[in-house]
Amino acid sequence: MDLHDYRDVAENYDAYLDVMYREHDNYEGFREFYLDLARRFGGTGTIDIACGTGAVLLYLLQAGLDAEGTDISEAMCDVARRKAAAMGLHPRIFPANMTDFHSNRKYSLAIIARSGFMHLLTPEDQRKALMNIRSCLTDGGILTLNTFAPHPVFQAQQMKTSTDDYTFRLEYTNSEGQREKIYNAITYDPATQIMHGNWKFETLGPDGQIVAERVRPLKMRQTYRQEMLYLTELCGYQVLDIFGDYRGSREDTGRYVWVLKKQ
Ligand SMILES: C[S@@+](CC[C@H](N)C(=O)[O-])C[C@H]1O[C@@H](n2cnc3c(N)ncnc32)[C@H](O)[C@@H]1O
Repeated sequence: MDLHDYRDVAENYDAYLDVMYREHDNYEGFREFYLDLARRFGGTGTIDIACGTGAVLLYLLQAGLDAEGTDISEAMCDVARRKAAAMGLHPRIFPANMTDFHSNRKYSLAIIARSGFMHLLTPEDQRKALMNIRSCLTDGGILTLNTFAPHPVFQAQQMKTSTDDYTFRLEYTNSEGQREKIYNAITYDPATQIMHGNWKFETLGPDGQIVAERVRPLKMRQTYRQEMLYLTELCGYQVLDIFGDYRGSREDTGRYVWVLKKQ
């Protein structure tokens, strides 16, 4: 099980992300970025892969676009469906692994928003996903995804820590109205390029005392820019653009938003 497979994480995901990105939003402008791509390239339909609780999918649907969603986590799909229904929308949202899902239609745009692609932990799974998504795209269809390259300073720090070296991240109010504090402990393995994070949720009682605690694991793989250039080319994509953020910068920040075209 990974972080997003847990129902408690899915139920609280929007609430704690909201707090996490209130001050420093690494993904500022992401919804508008994808809406623009969907307007330009999604004429034959858009699929939001690893759609989570529907941050992008629902935004596209509200703008009147033809879009569907898929995510490996049933719990995340359930939350996305419930949010859609509350808006009077009933999109197709199906649980599936991006490495092997099939759909009865082809899409002219596939989106893997924010860090969805980084949940693939091996080059083999990355290749499987890229090939599989390619088979679901129309000729000349577009795939966009993002990656982080290993950052020498952070990675050097994380190579020295252990899976219980917790750092406080934020406090938020969970779906049951209780205060919760979130801590994480992240380690890094340079051989596999995998970050292993433990996310600890402490539930607080009325006097601030800890009444419950749970730990949820999260692994993400970092990918070098050069690796991605080879991988995408070998999987039959042309690189149309590589952005450094969602506002259109092309500065090399080590965080990449890729726009790829099926060859
Ligand atoms: C960081 S969340 C991003 C969710 C959403 N795209 C967003 O921007 O809010 C990553 C999502 O990737 C999903 N995921 C992880 N591995 C996956 C896989 N192999 N296939 C499909 N979805 C996957 C998780 O369940 C989770 O919902």
